[in-house]
Amino acid sequence: MVEKFLTGKDYAEGTAAKHFFFSSIVMLNIGVLMALGTSMRLAWPDIFPNDIPWLHFGRIRPVHVHFVIFGWISMAFAGAMCYMTPALCKTRLWSEKLGVWNCWAWNVGMVFVFFTLINGMTTGREYQDLIWPLDAFILLFVFAPLAVNIWMTMFRRKAQGLYVTLWFFGASLLFILLSYFIGAVPDFFPVTGLSEAYMTWWHAHNILGLWITPVSAAIAYYIIPKVSGNTLYSHKIGHLHFWSIAAFYSTPGAHHLMGAPIPEWLKSFASVSGVLIMIPALAFVVNMLMTMKDKWWMFTRSIPLQWALTGVLFAIPLNIQGAFQQTRALNWYIHGTHWIVAHAHLALLGFSTFIEIGAIYYGLPKLLKRELYSEKLARLHFWMMAIGFLGFWAVLTAAGLVQGAAKVYEIPYIQSVVATHPYMVGRVLFGALIIFSQPIFLYNMWMTARYGKKIVPEATVHTPAPATA
Ligand code: HEM
Ligand code: HEM
Repeated sequence: MVEKFLTGKDYAEGTAAKHFFFSSIVMLNIGVLMALGTSMRLAWPDIFPNDIPWLHFGRIRPVHVHFVIFGWISMAFAGAMCYMTPALCKTRLWSEKLGVWNCWAWNVGMVFVFFTLINGMTTGREYQDLIWPLDAFILLFVFAPLAVNIWMTMFRRKAQGLYVTLWFFGASLLFILLSYFIGAVPDFFPVTGLSEAYMTWWHAHNILGLWITPVSAAIAYYIIPKVSGNTLYSHKIGHLHFWSIAAFYSTPGAHHLMGAPIPEWLKSFASVSGVLIMIPALAFVVNMLMTMKDKWWMFTRSIPLQWALTGVLFAIPLNIQGAFQQTRALNWYIHGTHWIVAHAHLALLGFSTFIEIGAIYYGLPKLLKRELYSEKLARLHFWMMAIGFLGFWAVLTAAGLVQGAAKVYEIPYIQSVVATHPYMVGRVLFGALIIFSQPIFLYNMWMTARYGKKIVPEATVHTPAPATA
């Protein structure tokens, strides 16, 4: 009965994916605009009137983080899932209707997220900041319907076997539901002190490792073979990647708490088990780079490939940096400094965002059945992001080292704040390049929808799938 209602008299194929992709670009624009506010606050603390609480650093920062993670990245994931899953399963999305409602509910949820956080209604637990009614909303109306839709599409597939991308999509939806539910437990039960801190960081770590990392990788597994025309280098390595993420990623959650008074054995365990994350990281990068064999000339020619491959290349320094920074000696040096913020952006802006933008440049014109409105604007977007991000990452990494040195030489904290001021200004300037490139992205996609040259019907969502396992 419910199934009949959801799948009968459905929207046209690809409607849900289009909704999600456009919404995600809007979220990206809002998210980075908030970042302008936070970064200006850190460069010039009195730049905004201090008697307006909505402009305080502590209010804008969580809005930035939530809009980029749960707005931009996660909605782009939903768009990619609604587009790629039917294509790989050689069928329709189980329910376009459910997908479209899911997308609107998600947008409404983000409006609540904005108003609660900006008004200071928060649990104060990073990456789990939302008050419990919103946590319940996100579980029930955001992630659960998405999971049902994607799982049902896989269940009804007409293709034989499941390509690696689908393994990751299917499992990550289960991971995010479980992790989000467990992460919200302190909202409902009196879990306090170190237990609360540990649960918070275990959950935050899983959002990164069992949601953002695998789904970004899954998207790259789709786009790179598809655009390059090569088959995936190795399905076996793909499976190694999948199982090693599932097995090793959630165990080192405590490496975010190396400076906290949690048990010593837990810190050592987290630090050592964290090295095992190098296995999926290496498997992914090797598989993607080898898939490009003999096709590297396409790197600069194809816009989606340029974005996706740049994201894959950022995964190399990201994971090397991660593995080193969790050793106890190094972590003491850089914990709580701008180095970590640089690492966080290398992960979510460099590695993940570049891959998602590649997916949108690839998928959205196909869904709209139109050619990209302007290749020049897409190139401008890429270079503004690439230069902006590299500069952003470099100044923050340097600032982190300065703060670390201040710790070693026991220099009063305020002096390190003064010493890092030029780097904070540098972040605003490089950040501005990233921020002002996003309206260009939105404009280009909007114009593609309105005025892009129509393409012949063969390029629908039912494009042939990359070789299945
Ligand atoms: C898609 C793009 C972006 C993503 C995914 C992203 C993600 C994040 C994340 C996860 C954090 C928390 C970091 C941590 O706690 O270590 C953060 C904080 C921050 N981000 Fe972004 N960000 C993006 C773009 C930007 C841009 C363009 C700027 C511009 C200047 C920026 C400035 C900041 C600032 C100032 C903070 C607070 C840092 C602090 O507390 O010291 N972000 N961002
Ligand atoms: C070998 C792989 C990696 C290791 C060992 C690693 C390790 C770490 C460690 C130890 C920290 C905490 C540092 C501190 O606060 O003292 C950290 C922070 C962070 N990592 Fe990674 N990392 C890896 C890869 C990744 C990936 C793939 C992502 C996401 C796509 C990611 C996203 C982040 C973010 C967002 C933070 C900041 C958390 C915060 O707000 O404090 N990392 N990482």
